[in-house]
Amino acid sequence: MLNFGRARSQPRPNRSLSLGGMDYPDLKRKNGYVGKIILAASLTVLCIIMLKQSPSFNTSSVFSLHEAGVTHVLVTGGAGYIGSHATMRLLRDQYRVTIVDNLSRGNIGAVKVLQEMFPEPGRLQFIYADLGNAKAVNKIFSENAFDAVMHFAAVAYVGESTLEPLRYYHNITSNTLVVLEAMAAHGVKTLIYSSTCATYGEPDKMPITEETPQVPINPYGKAKKMAEDIILDFSKNSDMAVMILRYFNVIGSDPDGRLGEAPRPELREHGRISGACFDAARGIITGLKVKGTDYKTADGTCVRDYIDVTDLVDAHVKALEKAQPKKVGIYNVGTGRGRSVKEFVEACKKATGVDIKVDYLPRRPGDYAEVYSDPTKIGLELNWTAKYTDLQESLRMAWRWQKAHRNGYGTVAASA
Ligand SMILES: NC(=O)c1ccc[n+]([C@@H]2O[C@H](COP(=O)([O-])OP(=O)(O)OC[C@H]3O[C@@H](n4cnc5c(N)ncnc54)[C@H](O)[C@@H]3O)[C@@H](O)[C@H]2O)c1
Ligand SMILES: *[C@@H]1O[C@H](CO)[C@@H](O)[C@H](O)[C@H]1NC(C)=O
Ligand SMILES: *[C@@H]1O[C@H](CO)[C@@H](O)[C@H](O)[C@H]1NC(C)=O
Ligand SMILES: *[C@@H]1O[C@H](CO)[C@@H](O)[C@H](O)[C@H]1NC(C)=O
Repeated sequence: MLNFGRARSQPRPNRSLSLGGMDYPDLKRKNGYVGKIILAASLTVLCIIMLKQSPSFNTSSVFSLHEAGVTHVLVTGGAGYIGSHATMRLLRDQYRVTIVDNLSRGNIGAVKVLQEMFPEPGRLQFIYADLGNAKAVNKIFSENAFDAVMHFAAVAYVGESTLEPLRYYHNITSNTLVVLEAMAAHGVKTLIYSSTCATYGEPDKMPITEETPQVPINPYGKAKKMAEDIILDFSKNSDMAVMILRYFNVIGSDPDGRLGEAPRPELREHGRISGACFDAARGIITGLKVKGTDYKTADGTCVRDYIDVTDLVDAHVKALEKAQPKKVGIYNVGTGRGRSVKEFVEACKKATGVDIKVDYLPRRPGDYAEVYSDPTKIGLELNWTAKYTDLQESLRMAWRWQKAHRNGYGTVAASA
């Protein structure tokens, strides 16, 4: 908990967070006329610096002006797992990025890593704000010249959504409406939306194509489907360029080991399979519980399509580059290949080098046997294919970060 408390108390709503320190020379020892001139000059400089850092000065910052040749992307949820990886890729590709996140689930540590990688002025700005607050969101849009929005911010655990459905309809559907209204009001014309294979529910035909009927079976999938519908209806009478990406199961982390996946400890019980694998390898939980060994699959365990986060953010950049006014593109983002839970567990053991204990238990209600994508459309239209398709290699990269960051972004472990 230590890192989260600090992260929450630090930032103030709606203000750019400066992550660098500011130091000025010790002037006390200086005497006489020359000293006073230096003092006066220094104070003037200091005032200018302070003025530049104050929120009111923000209106004339580079972020508030459109610049030819520079695409300024608003990344909502950019302190989160996928949003932080997307931000890194955008900055590398010379985009200008503003992250809006209220750190309810993301990590200020991830933003700090990005600020340190891209310290030049006008590259990255972080704004602490809640997307549920329409007034705050409008202020952000009026003070910044965005060219496009990548909307990642959401709550994203299927299990939690069945226990707290309102949290999901609020923070997914209703917040997407707030973002869309602000985009419409401020003439921001490109939207890349994070959707999910959970919007398909339990289709009886595999693989899933974009034409597979969407019949979501839990509040998470339903909230995302509703948000998609709102975006689609709006786009019919507007010249907005829209790309909806429906991700399958996201795994992995930055191959260079700077960013990772660090969900709140209290969300562990709702967690995803990769998190559980690493927790088991670290001994935080006693082992892995595989629920269901009698499904009609090759080895009896469930089959899923695991997409590496580096490939996923590549799909976002390609979608952004190819987005066209008045057009909507809807794409599955997956590898097209299903892997069983047993395969995943074996890959996890090899990647971590830990002989994780595995308990095989009866089926969990609500799980479906097999889910995997048909990624043909995104291949043809966006020239995207998954490249990081070696499960063990993706898990190895993620494990390296996990091992070096035992407390997530809180502290760096001295040894691993
Ligand atoms: N991880 C997956 O396997 C997966 C699969 C399919 C789709 N998705 C979608 O991808 C997106 C990102 O997921 P993630 O895994 O990176 O989740 P995450 O929890 O790591 O990141 C979400 C971020 O949004 C922020 N946020 C949430 N509500 C907010 C609000 N009201 N105001 C401001 N910020 C807010 C959180 O603080 C967090 O930083 C989500 O839309 C999710 O539904 C994820
Ligand atoms: C984040 O936003 C939600 C609304 O979507 C709000 O309820 C929550 O309190 C906020 N969290 C923080 C830490 O500000
Ligand atoms: C989501 O919405 C609910 C209100 O339904 C709120 O209590 C919660 O704090 C919000 N934020 C998150 C991150 O869950
Ligand atoms: C498609 O992408 C590959 C690299 O993945 C590239 O070599 C090729 O030129 C691209 N094709 C088109 C038509 O852009």
